[in-house]
Amino acid sequence: MTHDPVQILRERFLAAMHAALGDDCPADADPIIAPSRNADLGDFQSNAAMPLGKRLGKKPREVAEAIVEHLDLAGIAEPADASSIAGPGFINVRLSPDALAGLLDNLDTPQLGIGTPAKAETIVVDLCGVNLAKQMHVGHLRATVIGDTLARIFERQGHKVFRQNHVGDWGLPIAMVTARIGDLAASGEIDLDALTLDDLDNAYRAAQKQCAPDRRGLDAVNRFDLGPKAKAELEEQVAGAEAALERAKQTLINLQSHDEATVALWQRIADVTMNECHAVCERLHATVPPDSAAGESTYRDELAGVVDDLIGQGLAVESDGALVIELKDVGIKEPLLIRKSDGGFLYATTDMAGIRRRVQKLGADRCVYAVDARQGLHFKQVFAGALKAGYAKKADGTDASLEHAAFGTVLGEDNRPFKTRSGENVKLADLLDEAVTRAEAQILEKNPGLAGDERKSVAEAVGISAIKYADLSSDRVRDYVFSFDRMLMFEGDTGPYLLYALVRIKSIFRKAQEQFGVTASDIASMRPAFALDAPEERALALTILQYSSVIDAVADALKPHLLCSYLRTLAEDFSRFFSQCPVLKAPDEATRNARLRLCDLAGRTLEDGLTTLGLVPVERM
Ligand code: ARG
Repeated sequence: MTHDPVQILRERFLAAMHAALGDDCPADADPIIAPSRNADLGDFQSNAAMPLGKRLGKKPREVAEAIVEHLDLAGIAEPADASSIAGPGFINVRLSPDALAGLLDNLDTPQLGIGTPAKAETIVVDLCGVNLAKQMHVGHLRATVIGDTLARIFERQGHKVFRQNHVGDWGLPIAMVTARIGDLAASGEIDLDALTLDDLDNAYRAAQKQCAPDRRGLDAVNRFDLGPKAKAELEEQVAGAEAALERAKQTLINLQSHDEATVALWQRIADVTMNECHAVCERLHATVPPDSAAGESTYRDELAGVVDDLIGQGLAVESDGALVIELKDVGIKEPLLIRKSDGGFLYATTDMAGIRRRVQKLGADRCVYAVDARQGLHFKQVFAGALKAGYAKKADGTDASLEHAAFGTVLGEDNRPFKTRSGENVKLADLLDEAVTRAEAQILEKNPGLAGDERKSVAEAVGISAIKYADLSSDRVRDYVFSFDRMLMFEGDTGPYLLYALVRIKSIFRKAQEQFGVTASDIASMRPAFALDAPEERALALTILQYSSVIDAVADALKPHLLCSYLRTLAEDFSRFFSQCPVLKAPDEATRNARLRLCDLAGRTLEDGLTTLGLVPVERM
């Protein structure tokens, strides 16, 4: 049984449109049902008369009148008449209190109106995307949090989800750091057993520097004749860098040919990085388990085959010694580089192999990539290339949908990319620590009664939820300013506000039990009839009814912020209801129980939404 008033109204309006217009009614006519823009006029409106009037060359108002004449709203809303038509032809509808209560009753199941999908899809979500030997920074926060939330949404809808952590764990830069770690271990400067990610991060940077010959410097020395000392120094640097680069290339060859000692070193680097990555993800309440790791290295033995296949298909052509796929015919002027002139493969080659594996091995209907917007061109090219090559072809012959859930940059309060004062990337783990410390200070101030371990665990939940909500609540393609002060406020558009709204609902039930011996599960089994007379009760009920369609909208548009703003509206509607409609002090037991049921349903919807978003609800705060 449906709980969705929009679906019911759509059917009723469609029938009326056909009855009113007969053969004139276009086959694809859409009733365009939307929440009413003015709550005084109704709960919903149909905006169909305007486009229909235009198409049929009639006055919209006349079209609206004809529709209203044939509109049967029995059992769902108050009958419509001429007074239901507003402006040029908007048709307003107000649900009858009984129908509204009935819909809410239909929704009141553990699933909260989210049914099983007509066709369960397999959806691959590319998330996190850390790089070996590098600390996770604020960019990985977005790739992890947005990716995980989208995955949770798809799972909540009943789809099958594969998370894929496309770890940057292969190629020359990785070989550089591997060679360097090997040297440091050989000279006793580091102990491989006690290796930390900080050691690796330092070695990574040192290796980059060590392998970069300063040819420009040497040119300048020669050109401006800066003296024998400078010349000797730069010559030594260039020679040293060239040698280091050669060694790194040899290390890469060793890795590629599975040389045992080199692979063991690489594996140690991978383990240190991934242990830290998984610890941070766990702390973030993001599900990125070890078996979701599918790094670039896992494709290494497929790349030559991919390139051969692309050559065989006549798609890869030579250009200045390199191999490229031309994409001009699909409107992309930059060709996709798949093999360098020195024979090396690229980031894009691996992503081509990735699409093939995701669609053809994992069975993806959709591949969704939670990756920085600055990689927009890369994904446009790779998607186009993969479609051409048939790598996105599913078993049924249709193409999987390839989607870049691109996100903007995290900015500091100075509106520039978020960095430390010395210009370094901010370590994600440090950010999480600071959010939790600040959350604890706030909790100490607001609720000194919360002590010891509970305060610690609540602070953890509040701090993490604050960071995540701040990230998820703005449209993901936009940049946002990272502000601890703002994200940790207990009022306003924040994670703590939503957690607190749920805490309040839970505390109503603690009091209900103390005063009347009634628990939430008593209410759930009694199922007292909803009484939705006050405007605040209606508003809350209407918001609850939208939950499943909001989840669908997030999944379609890949926009978690829609769920954020929905939950905020839900919390605000609840708060208005609670201040206008006494619950524990209701005039009689029937009203009290009816309102308690509305509290319970609002609370469950809020909790389901918060968990689906990936926030961490608490009992008290
Ligand atoms: N490691 C990459 C980076 O740090 C992100 C990987 C994104 N996923 C992908 N399939 N390309 O930029």
